[in-house]
Amino acid sequence: MMNMNRRLNGSARLMLVSDLDCTMVDHDAPDNLSLLRFNALWESYYRHDSLLVYSTGRTPITYKPLRNQKPLLTPDITILSVGTEIMYGGGDDMVPDLGWQQFISHRWDRAIVVEETNQFPQLIPQAEKNQRPHKVSFKVDKVMALEIMNALSERLEKRGVDINIIYSRGVDLDILPKRADKGQALAYLLKKFNNEEKLPHDTLVCGDSGNDAELFSLPQVYGVMVSNAQEDLLQWYAENVSDNPDMLHATERCAAGIIQAIGHFHLGPNVSPRDLKDFRKCKVEMSSPAHEVTKFYLFYERWRRAEVEKSEEYMQNLKSVLQSSGIFVHPSGVDLPIHQCIDSLARLHGDKQGKQFWTWLDRLSSVQIGSNAWLVKFNKWELCENERRCCLTTVLMSSKGEGPDDFTWLHMHQTWLYGLEIKEPERWLF
Ligand code: GLC
Ligand code: MG
Repeated sequence: MMNMNRRLNGSARLMLVSDLDCTMVDHDAPDNLSLLRFNALWESYYRHDSLLVYSTGRTPITYKPLRNQKPLLTPDITILSVGTEIMYGGGDDMVPDLGWQQFISHRWDRAIVVEETNQFPQLIPQAEKNQRPHKVSFKVDKVMALEIMNALSERLEKRGVDINIIYSRGVDLDILPKRADKGQALAYLLKKFNNEEKLPHDTLVCGDSGNDAELFSLPQVYGVMVSNAQEDLLQWYAENVSDNPDMLHATERCAAGIIQAIGHFHLGPNVSPRDLKDFRKCKVEMSSPAHEVTKFYLFYERWRRAEVEKSEEYMQNLKSVLQSSGIFVHPSGVDLPIHQCIDSLARLHGDKQGKQFWTWLDRLSSVQIGSNAWLVKFNKWELCENERRCCLTTVLMSSKGEGPDDFTWLHMHQTWLYGLEIKEPERWLF
């Protein structure tokens, strides 16, 4: 049914379903550090056998700018518009689930909803970009919300339209078809996986506000409300699920709260490679080609920000990992001996010191192509101040087979993906 099923032959080890605003994304953290910590964790240890699902109130139109502003990984599935749109993929190639659209259209008539809501001047329509075929959204004062919700439901019932009203953050009021919300969209997906005998081993839902509540009502899922959760969700939690051991109110904000929940429920590795200052302390069993490239780029970032000391030893270590005959095909098309690139890197120590300079990897896949050869492919992002660039990167690696940590880089190839107007291509490294 979906391209990620080609990646996953069986059930996902973990299906992580997260809201975006104020859950995955912390709008109060300009450095996006906890999101970047999550990214490194996910790409190193989960991407190959787990599913990342975003579930947001945003529409396809308002989801896109968030992706451009924040270092969000590409999810496997994107649930948009408060559960009314399910899309497979999460990048520029999203494919809608038409079966879901059809299913939720039952006893839904948008025109009648609009007509009836016009009778309530207290309902302030949200911007056009927030309106969708199965989502009619308003702003309304908390004091009046409950009364209006009751009156509206009654009027629409009389007109034969079945609705679901979701109230969030003490201001947003969404009118959806009765069959749709974030929880029902996820239940539909889980049922679909079950029918294919691919039910995920574990599912973790993550949220912060009213429109996430339905995610937490599903049976057999773990749930985390991030520490910064809104009053409406906290109240719902206190009344409905506070004694459920599978639910957690994290003490950490946003993506850090998600990482905390992964640890709390023992769902898998919960130490982000970003949190390790000294990679020699990594557990050997964590080693893999995915982890290897993650470590490399974290070192690269810290080197350029001068967060690791300038030492010849580091450069020699890198050279010992990169085969001396190895070639780096630069995105401009020029190829260079890989050791020459290390010499250039040595000279750039600290050139990004004090700057917002970050790297992260997305859509990482690694395929074993021989008894000790691996092809690792990923999108490598680099952000400097406000400029972002992305390169599709392929690395050919061999493992010596002595220790699992013994990878040798044989060949590396990059192609520009986004941010084509590179002002100084000669400053681009790796
Ligand atoms: C998002 C949407 C908005 C919706 C709200 C609550 O902010 O943009 O339209 O009302 O979520 O679901
Ligand atoms: Mg939110």
